Amino acid sequence: MPRNLILRYTNPNDWVLDQFMGSGTTLVEAKLLNRNAVGVDINPQSVSISETNLQFQCESKSKIYTKNGNATDLNFIKDSRIDFICTHPPYANIIKYSKGIEGDISLLDAETFLNEMSKVSNECYRVLKKGKMCAVMIGDIRKYGKVIPLGFRMMECFLQAGFSNKEIIIKEQHNCLSTDYWKEQKRDFLLLAHEYIFVFQK
Ligand SMILES: C[S@@+](CC[C@H](N)C(=O)[O-])C[C@H]1O[C@@H](n2cnc3c(N)ncnc32)[C@H](O)[C@@H]1O
Repeated sequence: MPRNLILRYTNPNDWVLDQFMGSGTTLVEAKLLNRNAVGVDINPQSVSISETNLQFQCESKSKIYTKNGNATDLNFIKDSRIDFICTHPPYANIIKYSKGIEGDISLLDAETFLNEMSKVSNECYRVLKKGKMCAVMIGDIRKYGKVIPLGFRMMECFLQAGFSNKEIIIKEQHNCLSTDYWKEQKRDFLLLAHEYIFVFQK
């Protein structure tokens, strides 16, 4: 997904940002495609995994930076410097990415998570150049038997921050945690088997 999005929305030498870097997929694709990139993650282990994954030789001369930091505060990036944001936050606390790192939004319930995503969306808007795109992948969740439309709730944060909707892409999800559960219940039509890629424009 990052490769297709980078090809669609950037040119060589552009600056790409992924502030929920994880293992560094966006940065690896940016490097392969001769784009510059900045990656941020709250978890130092993610930063070191990304750095390992980025240790390959290729023909591009990209500048790639990784940083241990919080996506809600990108104060080390000046206003309107980034050409494209391509990122993938946690889906509230469906998968916890650490055991208690302060600022890790994968430890938060949906409402607190959305408050933090409002801050993230404001930072996205601030660092992106005018007219440029911000792609965010996210899925909906189910808690206590009820669906929480986390994707559309998060989309509202980005619209509030000033972005407009450019695309809403549906990505099929093939390895869902609850696939077997719904199959056993013979109700697999209830499986949440898609994620969204929202492409916002500043
Ligand atoms: C869904 S994963 C990203 C996976 C990534 N697309 C990859 O290729 O591996 C979400 C990441 O967000 C990070 N994270 C959680 N809260 C954060 C925050 N406040 N600021 C930056 N990163 C955060 C987690 O540590 C985790 O690595």
